[in-house]
Amino acid sequence: MNYRIALIRGDGIGPEIVNETVKVIDKVGEKFGHTFEYIDVLLGGCATDTVGKSYPDGTAELCKSCHAVLLGAVGGPKWGSNKPAEQRPETALLAIRKDLELYANLRPAALRPALAAACPLKKETAEGGIDLLMVRELTGGIYFGKREKYQTEERGLEATDLMAYSEMEIERIGRKAFEMARLRRKKVSSVDKANVLETSRLWRSVMHRLAKEYPDVDYEDVLVDNCAMQLVRDPGQFDVVVTENMFGDILSDEASMITGSIGLLPSASMGDGAPALYEPIHGSAPDIAGQDRANPIATILSAAMMFRYSFQLPAEADVIEAAVDKALADGWRTADIAKAGERVIGTRQMGQIIQENI
Ligand code: IPM
Ligand code: MG
Repeated sequence: MNYRIALIRGDGIGPEIVNETVKVIDKVGEKFGHTFEYIDVLLGGCATDTVGKSYPDGTAELCKSCHAVLLGAVGGPKWGSNKPAEQRPETALLAIRKDLELYANLRPAALRPALAAACPLKKETAEGGIDLLMVRELTGGIYFGKREKYQTEERGLEATDLMAYSEMEIERIGRKAFEMARLRRKKVSSVDKANVLETSRLWRSVMHRLAKEYPDVDYEDVLVDNCAMQLVRDPGQFDVVVTENMFGDILSDEASMITGSIGLLPSASMGDGAPALYEPIHGSAPDIAGQDRANPIATILSAAMMFRYSFQLPAEADVIEAAVDKALADGWRTADIAKAGERVIGTRQMGQIIQENI
């Protein structure tokens, strides 16, 4: 079969890590007899530089003509928050999520065996293992609520961001979490702030209703502050963690850090139709862009998720993951995951080694 993949190379280290990933995808194609057609899609700061806005007209349509979207990274200080919204890369990221209705963001955080030493937590904690899946709601909540800034008489300027959630939005992300848990260790931890927020109380009541429909899955409520603490105290207790957009943004960075490197973790954003979008969870790292220093593994593992979820080719996904694990087990390290004294290789060499392992 021929697959059409939209490539959003983006900004900073984005183009370099996407390059290496494309080589790995092509190698998988050779091995298993698939072909790939790549459609370059301009989005992010690079789009602002070329056409004056970060989310050019027709972007969503172009992506929808593909089976899946692979994104490197977007953003950078050059297009900071002092720039008009239509020039900022973040605006484009939110727009594509919304336009493709990618309401479920899956962020697996697992400690890879060869890198247990990179875990910043206590040795006993690392030895207990970390293997959790963050399921973050991605198209609702405070990220998409009404924003206002206005002058008051006595308090100067004032600003508000509205956090809204409907039952429909909570139910569909909840179902994704329970379905994912059934494929894993069958536990869902739903994270909210129900002791303060009305949206969280609604969230919790919908989750409780769903939990009854999935009696084979263990369910618990966790308050978000407690979750932040449990993630560093005993992360092994979590299997699937489901939460709203902003809590998920914050907790997924924390979850990634405890696995040793944000440079290792992939993500998938999906809705009920095609295409889904795959991207590393790290940013564009402008400080090391173009220097052959970035770790391409998170993007390569995002491609593995693409094979698993969008193409339903689990054997191909397994081969990519095994190729990454072998590279790590053989001791190959990019700078972000190297311990003092370990030999460091660059982006291209890491890509090459993983490609050879396929
Ligand atoms: C992420 C990022 C984005 C988000 C930013 C860049 C808008 O932090 O994907 O986690 O907050 O969703
Ligand atoms: Mg984030």
